[in-house]
Amino acid sequence: MKNNIEEQLELPCGSMLSNRLCKTAMTEGLSDELNRSTDELCTLYEKWSKSGASLLITGNVQIDRRYMERAGNVAIDGKQSNLQIEKLKKWASAAKINGNHCWVQLGHAGRQTDARVNKVGLGPSPIRSRNVAGQILMPSYAPKEISISEIGSIIDKFSYAAKVCKEVGFSGIQIHSAHGYLLSSFLNPLANVRTDSYGGKLENRYRLLLEIIIATRRSVGPNFPISVKINSSDFLKGGLTDQESATICKALDSKGIDLIEISGGNYENLAIFRGKDALNDKNINEAYFLDSSKEILNTIKNTPIMLTGGIRKLSTMNDLISNHNIDMIGLARPLCGLIDGPKKLIKKEIYELPKYEDKINYPFFLRWLKIFRFGKVIYKAAILLWCYDNIINISKNKPFDTKGEKINLINIIIKMYIYEWKKASSLREIKSRGLVYRQNF
Ligand SMILES: Cc1cc2nc3c(=O)[nH]c(=O)nc-3n(C[C@H](O)[C@H](O)[C@H](O)COP(=O)(O)O)c2cc1C
Repeated sequence: MKNNIEEQLELPCGSMLSNRLCKTAMTEGLSDELNRSTDELCTLYEKWSKSGASLLITGNVQIDRRYMERAGNVAIDGKQSNLQIEKLKKWASAAKINGNHCWVQLGHAGRQTDARVNKVGLGPSPIRSRNVAGQILMPSYAPKEISISEIGSIIDKFSYAAKVCKEVGFSGIQIHSAHGYLLSSFLNPLANVRTDSYGGKLENRYRLLLEIIIATRRSVGPNFPISVKINSSDFLKGGLTDQESATICKALDSKGIDLIEISGGNYENLAIFRGKDALNDKNINEAYFLDSSKEILNTIKNTPIMLTGGIRKLSTMNDLISNHNIDMIGLARPLCGLIDGPKKLIKKEIYELPKYEDKINYPFFLRWLKIFRFGKVIYKAAILLWCYDNIINISKNKPFDTKGEKINLINIIIKMYIYEWKKASSLREIKSRGLVYRQNF
């Protein structure tokens, strides 16, 4: 019998996806010192192109180099030089070598800008993000409040970057409005206390997102896929709720977009990687954002929905598609260790993707650290660093950990800390002052 995951999906813009599996966005940290695409990105995406997923979504590509989520993000910030265009073209063609789609995730890190690059992020209001990893591992500062003229320039930057993506051969784009970055922080009443037409009531808080979508549609035309990634909930008392998120999705639904990807959380909790109750000791649940997505799923009529977060079993994937109105399945962490997991699922060579996130272990002498909240955060978030490390190794054709048996907490933290520090210090020509990178201007 045919799996549901094997079915094709026609998007509202007319594009076809050949199956229901997507390698969703994972920041790669592989750009060069000017945040251009590199050969490493081409190698990585050529491998993912052969993964069996019909759709790849790139990691955050920044529309403003001053506000990056990591020093190694690619940026499409305004007019591109011939060399930048050439490098982007190479990346797009490598990422589609197997006939799949590859969409670029466009973002602005906002108040979650990496402080190593720029200590002063940009936010709807000057309210600091209280990062769950604390001020030592992930320092944060109050952002600058964005002005109305800066809002206009952000809309232009998103729509311009989308046009560049189309011109260089990517087959779609995704606007990143989840996880606490700029557009997500506008939706969050804890971060957005503006009193103008971009703050206050919900309709105002999602105004910027809608304006970006309208401008982007205008710049790429009717036949190019546009997706939005959004939180089903911020999972914070006073943050974006699931009912509010459903209302926003309804507004998006009327604007002719092609895919809504549902996620949740921000740097103030670990919901992105574990759902609500992220710090409890249990292993993560399958499809941990399904509950908080119920309102959205009941409300949306036209736009296909992708659910992401902890989906590992073939039976769960098929059930989500047949019984829960989910159209696409988003997969991230498993594809850092088992690159061709989607192909294996479709061929029924495996019935479940690896749960690398359950394999982290504290060294015996440090287990007491788990008593503290900080210790728990390090333990639960280490999988992210393991993925970063594997992504770098895959991109350089080096051996990488396929079993997850070697997730060594201490090694991985030190190794990635040094990597990020070096990346930030190698940057050039950004008008920003960070903890590592500083340019006088
Ligand atoms: C290494 C890594 C990098 C990520 N980078 C991004 C990103 O750039 N943009 C984004 O929207 N989500 C990012 N995510 C979140 C994933 O897209 C996904 O929402 C999350 O990992 C849950 O899916 P999973 O359980 O299949 O891993 C990242 C996740 C990982 C593990």
